[in-house]
Amino acid sequence: MTLADTIDAIKAEAENDLNQSSSAKEIEALKVKYLGKKGRVQGLMPLLKDSPSEQRASFGKLINDLKTALEEQLDFASNRLEREELNKRLACETLDVTLPGRRRFHGREHVILKMLDEAIEILSGMGFSVQYGPDIESDFYNFEALNFSKDHPARDMHDTFYIRPDLLLRTHTSNTQVRVMESCNPPIRMIAPGKCYRNEDVSARSHVLFHQIEGLYIDKDVTFSDLLATLEEFFTKLFGKNVEMRFRPSYFPFVEPGMEVDINCIVCSGKGCGVCKHTGWLEVAGAGMVHPNVMKSGGIDPEEYLGYAWGFGIERLAMLRYGITDIRYFLEDNLRFLQQF
Ligand code: DAH
Repeated sequence: MTLADTIDAIKAEAENDLNQSSSAKEIEALKVKYLGKKGRVQGLMPLLKDSPSEQRASFGKLINDLKTALEEQLDFASNRLEREELNKRLACETLDVTLPGRRRFHGREHVILKMLDEAIEILSGMGFSVQYGPDIESDFYNFEALNFSKDHPARDMHDTFYIRPDLLLRTHTSNTQVRVMESCNPPIRMIAPGKCYRNEDVSARSHVLFHQIEGLYIDKDVTFSDLLATLEEFFTKLFGKNVEMRFRPSYFPFVEPGMEVDINCIVCSGKGCGVCKHTGWLEVAGAGMVHPNVMKSGGIDPEEYLGYAWGFGIERLAMLRYGITDIRYFLEDNLRFLQQF
């Protein structure tokens, strides 16, 4: 058999193989069979070497032509089969253009931040500037400067997270009072919003993390009735005209006299419910006239100046506003709850 005959035989065999192949994978196998290192074309090389020298050039060309032709045929076949396989796959995939689109998820402001912003806006409008104190605070600003001596029993009311004996997570935004007194001259009219922390049992009514806004006003002729009028104005603006308020004498070391401010429970309209512990009232703020010792801590002469202060919890206000009966919702990742606001 001459080399030309062998080449024709290989061509015929390849054509037969190609006709019987029905997948891209099979074509890959044929590429190896014919064009691989130990493939059919390579197998012709010894014949080329043994052929008479005057025929070698033309034989070489024949082998090359065979190689090129096989490459083309195999590439063509594998492209065709790949396309066919793709078409088959696409034919099973249907596209329903009438399906509704996917809604994108939009984040939103947390209800507590909204409430904070609203309160800040009302109070800024009443002339209070906004100041920020640190969450990690010294014992001095959180307690000592506010007239809680080291062994003061009122410290027990604040279940404090201590970092070191002299460093803690602030238990109230009152920590900002003396900081501001130290850095500003009276008249001072400021609010300090922020997070507070207490090592309390988590329940429907209390949490380890909550928000407060502290208010402080210091000037030469500040009176108790200024304080009452300011709070009344604030809660009226926040909740509307129907809000009822009541004041109860109370004790906080940093004010004298001190009081607690209650608001008519909006969840039950004062009838009594779980949120107000069936009293019809909800405590929303502590307030009073700034204690002379606190003024002194802040370097302000209590003979010359007077002041009032208050602090209230934002969670409480949001619960009232929206009729939420469990404070724990605010810190949970329940989107169905959070997306309502
Ligand atoms: N800091 C107090 C608390 O967290 C709230 C408070 C009461 C703030 C009376 C005041 C105040 O400024 O005068 O319980």
